[in-house]
Amino acid sequence: MKNVLVTGGAGFIGSNFIHYLQRTEPDVFIVNLDALTYAANPDNLCDLLDPNRYMFIAGSICDSELVDSIFFKYSIEVVVHFAAESHVDRSIHSPGQFVQTNIVGTFALLEAARQAWLVHRTVPPERARFHHVSTDEVYGSLGPGDAPFSEMTPYAPNSPYAASKASSDHLVRAYYHTYGLPVTITNCSNNYGPFQFPEKLIPLMILNALSGRSLPIYGDGKQIRDWLYVEDHCEAIWRVIERGRPGETYNIGGNNQPTNIQIVKEVCALLDALAADSGHAPHDKLCRSVADRPGHDRRYAMDISKICKDLGWVPKESLCSGLQKTVRWYLNHPNWVEKIADRPEYRSWLQKNYHTREAK
Ligand code: NAD
Ligand code: DAU
Repeated sequence: MKNVLVTGGAGFIGSNFIHYLQRTEPDVFIVNLDALTYAANPDNLCDLLDPNRYMFIAGSICDSELVDSIFFKYSIEVVVHFAAESHVDRSIHSPGQFVQTNIVGTFALLEAARQAWLVHRTVPPERARFHHVSTDEVYGSLGPGDAPFSEMTPYAPNSPYAASKASSDHLVRAYYHTYGLPVTITNCSNNYGPFQFPEKLIPLMILNALSGRSLPIYGDGKQIRDWLYVEDHCEAIWRVIERGRPGETYNIGGNNQPTNIQIVKEVCALLDALAADSGHAPHDKLCRSVADRPGHDRRYAMDISKICKDLGWVPKESLCSGLQKTVRWYLNHPNWVEKIADRPEYRSWLQKNYHTREAK
């Protein structure tokens, strides 16, 4: 058995990754360390394929004592580090928590890995890997004619979220160069798919549209993102862990460039077809332009030629097929949706982030 520590495995990508590993890697035992913040959802993991190859630990990556003990107790060989505060808008309201979790927490994990692997030699060095899951937002914003971000693009983070992720990337890189810790980093574009918390664009629009609430488009809605179906991201991460070179960074993306308004219209069209009886079709009549996100990055685009060429990874889903799967998933999981929509924390977040915007 290979013992893999997944951090943040009760969140969106982490839980998809755990399902992916259980399906594809029969010799992996997963330890999931998650602090169960507002973004976590234990329901995401309730129907695991093989619960005998899975262990959940409730706790924070910032708790060095706990993290140290996990490395020794479970002879951790691989770390897949997802745990983070991940929402840009929340980082604008409350940046302090992003510094704690994303920077201090990553530091605690790196130190634990260094002590266990390089000082105490808990596992053979060639089997150890620290994989850090990061974002394209560290590279900043592109103009309309700019070339996509490559692994050589200088960092220029614009939001507190992006700055905290950039900072954690630098720490990870430094642990490779200074101590020889076997690390890899991936910088990925916007994910979407099952289990995504409905504070992010696509699930927020699905939930709002189904209940007849307005669809808040920040600014002119012409901002551009690259979108990747979450299972493609999971496959890419495991490919990098298995075949990527220690010390290297790999960009991951879906090779598409829609504007936000195009994404929202596509979601609405899918809902018109798949949920025609919602009582709110045509759903795009609910679109409203609202006050923009401060410091809003205009465009992201990813050059993914390195991971394609060196590791033979390409995304399997197109934006069209991925969006269709995603909308169907939310329609087929009304209990999952209702439980989140009823949480007081979720309702107060909507009030905090959208009330003043809509008043403008
Ligand atoms: P998410 O917000 O859905 O989940 C984050 C998880 O981390 C939650 O389960 C939460 O409880 C946990 N967590 C938070 N603080 C913790 C702490 N101190 N200790 C332990 N667990 C803690 O996030 P996501 O969208 O799944 O993103 C996962 C990772 O991928 C993040 O590092 C994010 O920066 C990165 N990423 C996300 C995207 C995207 O589009 N969602 C794209 C590229 C990279
Ligand atoms: O690019 C990768 C990043 O993608 C990840 O690192 C982040 O963790 C993830 O949250 C995501 O960040 P974004 O800010 O791009 O995602 P979000 O879904 O919040 O917003 C996508 C776009 O939609 C962005 O341009 C802002 C816009 N938007 C978002 C919301 C929530 C709206 O117009 N209205 C909204 O209500």
